[in-house]
Amino acid sequence: MKALILSGGKGTRLRPLTYSGAKQLVPVANQPILWYGIQGIVAAGITEIGIIISPETGEEVQSLTGNGDRFKANITYILQEEPAGLAHAVKIAQPFLKDSPFVMYLGDNLIQRPLNPFLQKFKAENLDGLILLRPVSNPSAFGVAQVDRRGKVLKLVEKPKDPPSNLALVGIYFFSPKIHEAIAQIQPSPRGELEITDAIQRLIECETAVESCTLEGWWLDTGKKDDLLEANRIILDTQLTPSILAQVDAQSQVIGRVQIGRGTKVVNCSIRGPVAIGENCYLENCFIGPYSSIADGATLIDVELEHSVILQGAKITGIHQRLVDSVIGRRAQLTVAPRRPKAFRFMIGDDSQIELV
Ligand code: DAU
Repeated sequence: MKALILSGGKGTRLRPLTYSGAKQLVPVANQPILWYGIQGIVAAGITEIGIIISPETGEEVQSLTGNGDRFKANITYILQEEPAGLAHAVKIAQPFLKDSPFVMYLGDNLIQRPLNPFLQKFKAENLDGLILLRPVSNPSAFGVAQVDRRGKVLKLVEKPKDPPSNLALVGIYFFSPKIHEAIAQIQPSPRGELEITDAIQRLIECETAVESCTLEGWWLDTGKKDDLLEANRIILDTQLTPSILAQVDAQSQVIGRVQIGRGTKVVNCSIRGPVAIGENCYLENCFIGPYSSIADGATLIDVELEHSVILQGAKITGIHQRLVDSVIGRRAQLTVAPRRPKAFRFMIGDDSQIELV
């Protein structure tokens, strides 16, 4: 059994963060989203992992993630020149996958439950395809499945205007090598992509064994800001190991589950967990409230923050209103000098969103 993780694509819905970096590397509780997927795959006993990368962000994904040693896995990187679709990614990965069955994992998906029970079912029932489904309130934003009472898949459609059910396809699929024949028979969709949904539909039409399971526990597709904040909240809530390796002065107060990395300095701050703060940050006169993650090298002075994600090297100073539900990009600078500013001076990147509420 092998694994194929898709970490290419354009990441348009997380712009502007994804202008300068891969969406799969955006940190959740200070760890790249992609790494949760790798860890889940390795925990299911699969160590031969191929990762699809794009020309724009591939180098960054590769240099940060490495050859797999840190996960006790073997990682092969596969360059996809164009984001031509999920099935196209499988097609170009064929020399890596050979005739092995595999789990395909979308690099921006996060699930709570382990993969093992699904893997067992896939193997025990000798399936050609196993998909995970989840009822959602907005099925049109996903691949949608129609299934019979036993969970047998009858029909799949990608992002339908008129969805046949509320069952969304989760971005984790199990395939036998028969998927390659199905992919060879499909054409690009109206949006110009080779859709994995169409390839699975083809498997179904050929009467191969395609089953579905309902996914319990939380599932997050971190493609958008609110999903990212939600993923950050859940991971901080459920997986954060408290540890303080930083210099925290006597005036500071740290309450609850808090992780602070090496080389960070905390001066006169109140920190209420769950909170993750990376390495080499500087925090002075701040209130850092629950569900905040601050990545390495960030500077925060005179700031009140809650339920937010601050990326590497960001600098925030003098924000006396509470900063909430915010994502601040790498090396971004946010400064409010006096308590009641007379004017705002901005240099805001394309697709940024600023709300003064
Ligand atoms: O998250 C679940 C949904 O994922 C499913 O319900 C849909 O059926 C499935 O098509 C997919 O939809 P998205 O619109 O969310 O896919 P997205 O374009 O965001 O790509 C998913 C991941 O795959 C993301 O990490 C980028 C990567 N990717 C995407 C494309 C199109 C590639 O590596 N190569 C590609 O060509």
